[in-house]
Amino acid sequence: MTRHLFSLPRCLGIGLLGVLIGPACLQAQAQTMSATSSSAMPPGIERSSFGRLADGREVDCYRITNDNGIEMRVINYGGIIVSLKTPDRTGRLDDIVLGFDSIGDYLSDTYRQANPYFGALIGRYGNRIANGRFTLDGETYRLPTNDGPNTLHGGDVGFNQRLWHVEPFSSAEGRGLVLTYTSPDGEQGFPGRLSTRVSYTLTDDNELAIDYRARTTRATPVNLTQHSYFNLKGEGSASVLDHELMINASAYTPIDETLIPTGEIADVSGTPFDFRQPTLIGARMGQKNTQLAYAKGYDHNFVLSKTPGQGDLPTLAARVIEPRSGRVLEVATTEPGLQFYSGNFLDGSLTGKSGRPYTHRSGLALETQHFPDSPNQPNFPSTILKPDETYHSQTVYRFSTTASEDLPHAD
Ligand code: BGC
Repeated sequence: MTRHLFSLPRCLGIGLLGVLIGPACLQAQAQTMSATSSSAMPPGIERSSFGRLADGREVDCYRITNDNGIEMRVINYGGIIVSLKTPDRTGRLDDIVLGFDSIGDYLSDTYRQANPYFGALIGRYGNRIANGRFTLDGETYRLPTNDGPNTLHGGDVGFNQRLWHVEPFSSAEGRGLVLTYTSPDGEQGFPGRLSTRVSYTLTDDNELAIDYRARTTRATPVNLTQHSYFNLKGEGSASVLDHELMINASAYTPIDETLIPTGEIADVSGTPFDFRQPTLIGARMGQKNTQLAYAKGYDHNFVLSKTPGQGDLPTLAARVIEPRSGRVLEVATTEPGLQFYSGNFLDGSLTGKSGRPYTHRSGLALETQHFPDSPNQPNFPSTILKPDETYHSQTVYRFSTTASEDLPHAD
């Protein structure tokens, strides 16, 4: 692990992003950056139209490039990363995230039925809340259930379907966007007015740093994450079973048949969930294992091992290597958990931006988060944000390549 993953967020915390302590600050930040919101874009950022929502609102697409040619495109609808081009070991650029070229594809009935949340910001609560219900300070709150009996990724209309306010910026740390969205009190059943501010920073060290902050007017659960699906061979390529994965976790949270944690924190030793040593994703997928059967593959929260002495800084959570292209993706986070989802519900019914179908397991998601169903699980780290607190979470995705040719191949 290079120093970049750990040093960058420290400068983000005190420099570019400042220390934000409340909705007033969220607003002030938006005002000081408003000069960039008109037609003049900072260097390295371009804005174009991505179409319109059904109610006529315009969807903007921001193209952000760094000095090494990495290019990321983000839309204000859902804060969705619609494309991300990174070099392979020969320097050839490929788009390594699943997604579409037009807003119509994200709004289509087929997409909504499949509900894969490609590339989106997820809130208020990433992952599941059992039976769409939780009790807080003696009051029971009911949420829309959109995943069998449970609430998934914030309910029927989560942050992934909201139009965010976007301010582009360019600074010493990199180029990027500050996205803000204020969720009204009671939205999707959650208490409190939640002011949310997320920044995406693309650095010249080939990192995408994501910083999440939120403030609430009443105590409420919050668990924000990013839902990009990666295929390091390039989106539209076949399955990710031949990607090699390391997850820095010696425990995971087993689930029931509706994918809700049982409450147990289980040792990964001797199970297909032990990714402490780099292992091909497909190596143990076919094993007879109740947990793999419940999720139809990997769709589990890993309890991240934290590096002593790193304080609040992001620590290494996972590393993915695709041997043929040589692409390497590293994820570091301040979060205690990581949902590794192996694209089990992709079935070829969606066709991506390059015209190729997104077939079974053709993308993987690494969602940094607190544990699923925490509002109903007293032994999990709390996800309750109180009015006198600021929610703050950081995740860094780092893109590089390896020269090594002698990595394992699945085929
Ligand atoms: C969940 C999966 C779900 C996917 C798309 C992931 O975060 O864990 O179960 O299918 O999101 O909704």
